[in-house]
Amino acid sequence: MVETSDEWITTRTGIKERHLAAKDEFTSDLAARAAERAMKMAGVTAGQIDLIIVATITPDMPFPNTACFVQHKIGAKRAAAFDIEAACSGFIHAVEVGQQFIMSRTYDTVLVIGAEKLSSITDWQDRNTCVLFGDGAGAVVLQNRPNSHGLLTAVMGADGGSADLLFMAGGGSRCPATAESVAARLHFLRMNGKETFKKAVQAMCTAAREALRRCELEIAQIKCIIPHQANRRIIDAVAERLGAKPGQMFVNLERYGNTSAASVAIALDEAVAAGKIQRGDLVLLIVFGAGLTWGAAVIEW
Ligand SMILES: CC(C)(COP(=O)(O)OP(=O)(O)OC[C@H]1O[C@@H](n2cnc3c(N)ncnc32)[C@H](O)[C@@H]1OP(=O)(O)O)[C@@H](O)C(=O)NCCC(=O)NCCS
Repeated sequence: MVETSDEWITTRTGIKERHLAAKDEFTSDLAARAAERAMKMAGVTAGQIDLIIVATITPDMPFPNTACFVQHKIGAKRAAAFDIEAACSGFIHAVEVGQQFIMSRTYDTVLVIGAEKLSSITDWQDRNTCVLFGDGAGAVVLQNRPNSHGLLTAVMGADGGSADLLFMAGGGSRCPATAESVAARLHFLRMNGKETFKKAVQAMCTAAREALRRCELEIAQIKCIIPHQANRRIIDAVAERLGAKPGQMFVNLERYGNTSAASVAIALDEAVAAGKIQRGDLVLLIVFGAGLTWGAAVIEW
């Protein structure tokens, strides 16, 4: 569709494969499937879920929110449901919000999902972006359990002054859908890759250092570092600046590309499945995305 090559994509990004949802498969379908697997792993039934938070920039529709569709699909009838939009940083934002509801004793069981059908906003004529993004979903169950820790801290940040680096102009109140907006391809995401790259490395390192400082931890004490899976070179630059050891960073972007809010959720699941995280281990999540937004979270598994 565009002039590119596997060699260019591999050397510039590290991405080898991306998965695209089917035409009749929506973000809520991917989210519901991830949710059901997370609930099974946690030993929690749909009836126990008090709250569903979905982090996404590709909701099924502008409204109702995607969490409501998920609530219906998984049969979590008691659950409140809302979405969070912090682009590729959405998962950490959603986990932190869920954690706050548990700490305040408002809810016992919160289902947090990062889910995207980015192929629905990808411009297949734009080689600067179409080689980077994929579809997917990941989920976690947060619960107030005795003798367990979970999320120790979450750092979040934003720079709205750099919103023009990564955005989708069409479809909102500023630029509602018209024949002209469609013809101008405004309903696809646009990115200034070079600037985004630099900001990503800086913000991810700053957030990670702040998260470690708050927990009085050194990077060497972290068992597994799970960065947002956007670009292999961003991950390598972050690893080098943080002084991470080889093997400490978990990377799976070669198989999924950038799945935005789903990215670290999918990677967390795969890291656990691969035996890289055991109970009691410290995990550091680091994210960055449009907004700009960023974040880092320390988890005791
Ligand atoms: C997009 C990205 C891979 C581009 O890599 P880069 O090394 O910065 O490349 P440049 O921007 O210097 O572009 C170099 C050339 O490659 C071209 N190019 C861009 N995409 C291409 C593709 N898929 N295939 C072939 N050539 C491509 C550009 O047009 C440019 O050509 P030009 O110099 O003739 O204009 C990189 O900037 C990046 O990963 N940025 C961060 C993106 C990201 O992760 N965003 C999400 C954050 S949540």
